Amino acid sequence: MDILIVGSGGREYSIGLALRNDKNVENIYFAPGNGASDRLGENVAISDFEQLADFVELHGIDLTIVGPETPLVEGIVDVFETRGLRIFGPSKAAAQLEGSKIFMKNFLARHNIPTARYIETDSQEVAYTFVESLTPPIVVKADGLCGGKGVIIVPNHHEAKEAIKAMLNGSSFGEAGKKIVVEEFLDGYELSVFAICDGKDYVILPAAQDHKRLLDNDKGPNTGGMGAYAPTPLVNETIYTALRQKVVEPTLRGMEAEGMPFRGVLFMGVMVVGGEPLILEYNVRFGDPECEELMPLLKSPASELFYKAAIGDLANATIEFHDKYAVGVVMASKDYPYKSSPPTQIIIDDIIHDDIKANAHISFAGVSQGSDGELLATGGRVLVCVGVGESLKEAHAMAYKLCGQIHFAGKQCRTDIAYQAL
Ligand code: AMP
Ligand code: GLY
Repeated sequence: MDILIVGSGGREYSIGLALRNDKNVENIYFAPGNGASDRLGENVAISDFEQLADFVELHGIDLTIVGPETPLVEGIVDVFETRGLRIFGPSKAAAQLEGSKIFMKNFLARHNIPTARYIETDSQEVAYTFVESLTPPIVVKADGLCGGKGVIIVPNHHEAKEAIKAMLNGSSFGEAGKKIVVEEFLDGYELSVFAICDGKDYVILPAAQDHKRLLDNDKGPNTGGMGAYAPTPLVNETIYTALRQKVVEPTLRGMEAEGMPFRGVLFMGVMVVGGEPLILEYNVRFGDPECEELMPLLKSPASELFYKAAIGDLANATIEFHDKYAVGVVMASKDYPYKSSPPTQIIIDDIIHDDIKANAHISFAGVSQGSDGELLATGGRVLVCVGVGESLKEAHAMAYKLCGQIHFAGKQCRTDIAYQAL
């Protein structure tokens, strides 16, 4: 089959790699892709949804997989489905689970899904009153999409009120912050858990852990994610069972009952507190860089997983995973996450070590091609070195050996990915 992947990051590249190794897949297209994805398929410079649907019709593409949240929240799935084209991802209505934190929190409350105590409001007075009822730290969230930056955690009531004021008057996040969620702080450890859903049935992927802060020991500013690994030993059967019974199943039943069956990736941001998983947030797509570690752990053909989910037939799929571990280390550009850095050439050593060749690979993200076809680091997160092994320790060693073979001016990466498990 022929598949179009929408997006341009390391996440989309890793889905492309999984499909490249899948004998059911012939042609792969990326819209728009990046400076390395043309090694896996063809880059297509179209962003308009109707024009993309024209392209899919013209080329007889069997399935479209959407990577990032923005096109989902803007309704790409509705456009494709109206035209009878097969696409993997949630409808615009279902994508509100990520597009609006208020929608998500109210949905969790309606369906008794465990989450932090909260209020949602556009009133400063109401927010201030609720703040007084909380013991700091306090969490303030803008309702709309803010590119992962709309969550502020503050150590006292005064700063909570300052953050609330700046959101509600539009000065911190514009329109996205004109309604807010204020909630209690949950003290525990975080997991990223993904369920591939077809509206009714689902497959849970091995639980992952992301590393959001820029620097080692979880210091420095928040980023999109500096590395991840899976499966994490911080999860156990009790947590998986709670996630199935108290989170995923009520979510799928609730979304169906409310007229917006959820098809796509349900990304559960989970905080485990006292052994119980609570939902911090939902996203409606794969995490980046979590996807880069999960794709190599997939033993079943990736096309089967995505295709059966898209046609509502996961009940008839047997999806298997390798009994292995994967660790991904992000290499970011010099000024990430503060500002973009000048383009700089990426040099990759000839990999002469058999173990690295066999057990590690790169998922390219913020890269483009120079005038001579050379690879340039142009984005914030440039690429992800992924190692796979029989143990986390092995996977970790592979990922870092590969990092040692990659050079560009100003590169930054954390040296402690997976530390909570090692
Ligand atoms: P979100 O975008 O909602 O995932 O929030 C970004 C990050 O803020 C999460 O990954 C958590 O580390 C943190 N966070 C969000 N909500 C809470 C909470 N209620 N308690 C503690 N940490 C939180
Ligand atoms: N790595 C977290 C995210 O994709 O939101």
